[in-house]
Amino acid sequence: MNADPQLFALEPTATPLPASERQARLVDPGFGRVFTDHMAVARWSDERGWHDARITARTTLTVDPASSVLHYAQEIFEGLKAYRQPDGSAALFRAEQNARRFNRSAQRLAMPELPEELFVESCRALVRADRDWIPESEGGALYLRPFMFASEVFLGVKPSSEYLYMVIASSVGNYFKGGAPAVSLWVSQEYTRAAPGGTGAAKCGGNYAASLLAQSEAIRHGCDQVVFLDAVERRWIEELGGMNVFFVFADGSVSTPPTSGTILAGITRDSILRLLRDEGVAVREEPYAFDQWRDDAQSGRLAESFACGTAAVVTPIGTVNSPEGSFTIGSGGAGPLTGRIKQRLTDIQFGRAPDPHGWRQPL
Ligand code: PLP
Ligand code: COI
Repeated sequence: MNADPQLFALEPTATPLPASERQARLVDPGFGRVFTDHMAVARWSDERGWHDARITARTTLTVDPASSVLHYAQEIFEGLKAYRQPDGSAALFRAEQNARRFNRSAQRLAMPELPEELFVESCRALVRADRDWIPESEGGALYLRPFMFASEVFLGVKPSSEYLYMVIASSVGNYFKGGAPAVSLWVSQEYTRAAPGGTGAAKCGGNYAASLLAQSEAIRHGCDQVVFLDAVERRWIEELGGMNVFFVFADGSVSTPPTSGTILAGITRDSILRLLRDEGVAVREEPYAFDQWRDDAQSGRLAESFACGTAAVVTPIGTVNSPEGSFTIGSGGAGPLTGRIKQRLTDIQFGRAPDPHGWRQPL
């Protein structure tokens, strides 16, 4: 299949939700519960390659109980947003980076790659069809969830010979309820997320399934999110269940854990590194130990910490909790660098500031 954009043509059958009902759903949408009228679909088979690409009415799927994804979890996904621009149009943000990461995940999970331009076009075409679903509210956006799963009906353990690629869209506001000023973290000491040689750098559903028990433990301890340590030494901070993490020091420098194979290479992480370097901030991608984090927070050497990702944007970390006790970072709320970098990033995404790196992609 070549990259003819018509391949993601809009099927004429879709009936949009009446505007009044759509507007009602867009009031305080939260995260991941409000879905749009359409979805993108394409199919892969070993015989035909990619085929049947289209934008169609969003509907339920009929899945055979022996579909291999249900048994062996051969599934990958992405997350990116379409942002409303000051002139009312919509723009994607670095979508080609999501396309590349999708293909790195596909390689790791022994799945077929999707040509980058098809990935990007599927997102563009879906946003064009569902543009009215982008919330008007401050910080609201259309969250796109491209995903691919093994659809061969077969119980043998092997890479599937058939796959379904889809993109669904969700109107979203804040990821954290109430747009919390700062989140609390729980350090998982018993469970790890990913080991060297495993799938930590891939965005596959299995990684998230494996993180849920630790996330439940975090919630049970009254915390918002789990933070994982490395699987070998149980010492180095890796990332949160669905976000990367940054540390801001009192001397003005910033560090973040390196992408050495066990964490997701976040596109927000990469964008923030770029923006900080543009400002002349000293930035290090280096391992940082949990004990050091606690000592630095208590001595005042560490001033701020924040989590970042497409869904979470930039979220200050207020307290860190573990079975051994808790510590507070800075004032326990948003620090100045965290606030500034969030503003700089979102100003570019929402078209309120110049875009020196060409990250914004009008439809
Ligand atoms: N780490 C994990 C485990 C994630 O799920 C995400 C979210 O996609 C991120 C980091 C941040 O990645 P990005 O900034 O590309 O959204
Ligand atoms: C994203 O930020 O896109 C993610 O996939 C993270 C998830 C917690 C929603």
